[in-house]
Amino acid sequence: AVDRQDGIDFDIQVRDDIEVDADSEQLFRVVHNICRNAVEALANYKPEDGSERRISVSAVRTGSVVTISIDDTGPGMPAKARENLFAAFRGSARSGGTGLGLAIARELVLAHGGTIALVEKPTPGTLFRIELPDRPVRLDAFRAKGRS
Ligand SMILES: Nc1ncnc2c1ncn2[C@@H]1O[C@H](COP(=O)(O)OP(=O)(O)O)[C@@H](O)[C@H]1O
Ligand SMILES: [Mg+2]
Repeated sequence: AVDRQDGIDFDIQVRDDIEVDADSEQLFRVVHNICRNAVEALANYKPEDGSERRISVSAVRTGSVVTISIDDTGPGMPAKARENLFAAFRGSARSGGTGLGLAIARELVLAHGGTIALVEKPTPGTLFRIELPDRPVRLDAFRAKGRS
């Protein structure tokens, strides 16, 4: 599905049948904080080559782990934000920022036993990947289905 808002394309690749055992309000906050950063990064960003501004969100399950990716075609993380990645109050590289969004996201992901990382990619922009392990996979079911 593609939504348009402020000239930003939202590309949501999440199948209806995907589920993860997690606190829904906390998981919402994680995704919301990261998407909000992407919107803020893209809002005043005009790519020189006129290429489109897009935020892509996907969620896939591999065995007992759900991987959520939030990818944007924005300007990329400034050095100051990278150096203080996930550090409360220190990572903000924009005026009016609190530097709390990523720190809170990380706390909530860790509380779920998961991981969150900034992923290097070949194209410009910013990609965060969240991995949430939830349920153990039954071996017989896993073998019968192949990968699920
Ligand atoms: N998708 C992104 N693209 C570019 N910069 C980003 C992105 N996400 C986060 N940042 C940078 O990381 C900083 C820290 O983000 P955050 O912890 O949410 O604090 P805040 O948004 O309050 O500044 C932001 O100030 C911004 O400079
Ligand atoms: Mg923020």
